Amino acid sequence: MENTASPARGSRFSPAKINLFLAVTGLRPDGFHNLVSIVAQCAFGDRLTRRDADGGAAEDSLEVTGTDVPEGAGNLVLRAAAAFRRAEPKLPPQRFKLEKRIPLGAGLGGGSGNAAAALSLLAERMPGMSATWLGGIGAGLGSDVPLFLQDHAVIMRGRGDRLEDLPESACDRLSGLPVLLFGPPAAMETPRAYALLRARGTYAAPQWAEERVAAFAEGRLSPEELLFNSFAEVVEDRLPTIAVVLRSVREAGIPALMSGSGSACFALPRDDADTETVRGIVAEAWGAGAFFTPTFLL
Ligand code: C5P
Repeated sequence: MENTASPARGSRFSPAKINLFLAVTGLRPDGFHNLVSIVAQCAFGDRLTRRDADGGAAEDSLEVTGTDVPEGAGNLVLRAAAAFRRAEPKLPPQRFKLEKRIPLGAGLGGGSGNAAAALSLLAERMPGMSATWLGGIGAGLGSDVPLFLQDHAVIMRGRGDRLEDLPESACDRLSGLPVLLFGPPAAMETPRAYALLRARGTYAAPQWAEERVAAFAEGRLSPEELLFNSFAEVVEDRLPTIAVVLRSVREAGIPALMSGSGSACFALPRDDADTETVRGIVAEAWGAGAFFTPTFLL
């Protein structure tokens, strides 16, 4: 997970995230939704490296290994570099390599995290950019990008771009917590999940959401008690095996929830036996195409 940097090259770990709490509270005039969420980063993730391209190269390039991701200009890494260069035209063409492990369309923030990693690497290459400036560029690339510019669990509000630090005691309760990430072979695109929720109109009450977040921040709720996701019902209707798997995991006494807009889920195991129980349930439901990885919160 070590991050390295020099003017010519750099390497950065790009973690997955989970939403321990995700309340979507309503539609905004700009077409986005307001939410209140508690998000933590995992020790599982991708790795992004960059170096200044050789003399002849005129453009940024990206090579992806691992999961099959489009490498073209639409990739968030290249979009992040383009956004950075608009403000800092002296940035030389970059060669990026992305070792991809986080599944796509999983609600684990893979693309957003990659964009944040690219921005951080470029900020090391061209020092002098403020964190606020970087956060603004990040928010322009995607609602979840700013959270990955932080190195600790945060409270997210607005469309995801307004961040508040959790109290240190709450971060301490999350840091090191064992987590199992798992999901079906099928992806769920974020805009689709929001459209499904919007059609159903099952928004959470903002005051209730704020009360839950405050209770966790103050230590009156455990991580297990905090678990909530506004997308759970609508996504489970579309991908019913998620509901089946989550029910089996919970019936085994293991807290579990879908992350973000799905399709990946997470469980909070107490011991190795819980890990094996979840591994078995996931393998039985989704077979060889399933995603399953034990990790912990950073
Ligand atoms: O910001 P991001 O690119 O992740 O958003 C993708 C899509 O998800 C948006 O175009 C919007 O349809 C939906 N979205 C939303 N409210 C949010 C975040 C995303 O409606 N807070």
